Amino acid sequence: MTIDLIAGARPNFVKLAALFHAIKKHDFIKYRIIHTGQHYDKIMSDVFFDELEIPLPDVNLEVGSSTDIEQTANIMVKYDHLLNSTYKPDKIIVVGDVNSTLACSVVAAKSGIELIHVEAGIRSYDNKMPEEINRIITDSISNHFFTTTKNAKNILLSEGKNLNRIHFVGNVMIDTLLRNKSKFKIPEIFNSLELNQNKYSVITIHRPSNVNNKNFWIKLFDTLNKHENILFVFPCHPRTNKVLNQHKIPNNLKLITPLSYLEFNFLVSKSGLIITDSGGVTEEATVLEIPCITLRKNTERPETVEIGTNELIGNNFKLLNKLINKAFSNNWKSTKIPELWDGETAERIVKILSKI
Ligand code: UD1
Repeated sequence: MTIDLIAGARPNFVKLAALFHAIKKHDFIKYRIIHTGQHYDKIMSDVFFDELEIPLPDVNLEVGSSTDIEQTANIMVKYDHLLNSTYKPDKIIVVGDVNSTLACSVVAAKSGIELIHVEAGIRSYDNKMPEEINRIITDSISNHFFTTTKNAKNILLSEGKNLNRIHFVGNVMIDTLLRNKSKFKIPEIFNSLELNQNKYSVITIHRPSNVNNKNFWIKLFDTLNKHENILFVFPCHPRTNKVLNQHKIPNNLKLITPLSYLEFNFLVSKSGLIITDSGGVTEEATVLEIPCITLRKNTERPETVEIGTNELIGNNFKLLNKLINKAFSNNWKSTKIPELWDGETAERIVKILSKI
């Protein structure tokens, strides 16, 4: 069986790592790792391959940054050329919901290659998010669906997908988290900022709907200013960095460059609270049992709120203020780990692949 494993952006690499480590143990699969080049900086890409022990990609399509549409189109053209100039695999595995996921899915479907989507069926029902469009289209043309939750399975069933093609297997992102937990690496800033366990908060904000909203930053900084005893550490995505230059940064907010996977998760695992607009981070916080606040109106990962550590608050900064107090007075809700988020998901996927 020949398979192309597709990855393009930071969260993809984390999911790819789990699949790679499971697939390499089985001789019946011959695979190529295809990096689209959506993320290309050392700290946004190379460091993930290095730390997560993924071999260098067999092919890098080197698309780089452009508009959402141009980037997606460029990936499609380049991947199509690759398939035509080398070979067409039996199957293509795409993960998550980034532009690379969508682009390679379309090429697979149009080339008659069996398409497999890992992390299928999740929905925010918010078409303003580029990721939601990517998920809906990818699922509409996938042949097999691996889901993180039963809820995602039910969503796919309600959309008319065939039960035999939907496999509830758990979460590959958590495979990678658990595999690397003992290797988390203390970042240099942990010592230089003299951080103490549970006494600081981590912030990550990168979604255009927040980043490009001036009012969002004014209100967020006003709220952080009310908690002068807490240090907020913010590893900054390149897009966010560009915008923050225009704002007055509170004294208790430390902006730092993006961290590597092992460093970021060290920082989160020792923190008292994470404030984010990422989806993957809410899953990791749930498993690391760290209080988490999501500054979004919706989530495609409701289990992180219903049974995990996450609270979804939109842009309600009064509530943010209250929840910061709650987190730092050890008063967070009690939580559980979602079903099958146990570190064995990629193994389950490979077992199913051997039969389809
Ligand atoms: C992408 C995903 C998002 C995911 C995020 C993780 C889509 C639609 N979005 O968003 O779901 O949560 O990755 O980080 O696919 N840039 C660099 N260096 C890089 C990569 C990007 O400087 O290595 C800068 C560029 O200026 C670029 C901007 O960051 O314009 C955004 O990158 P892009 O890949 O378009 O989307 P992300 O916001 O990273």
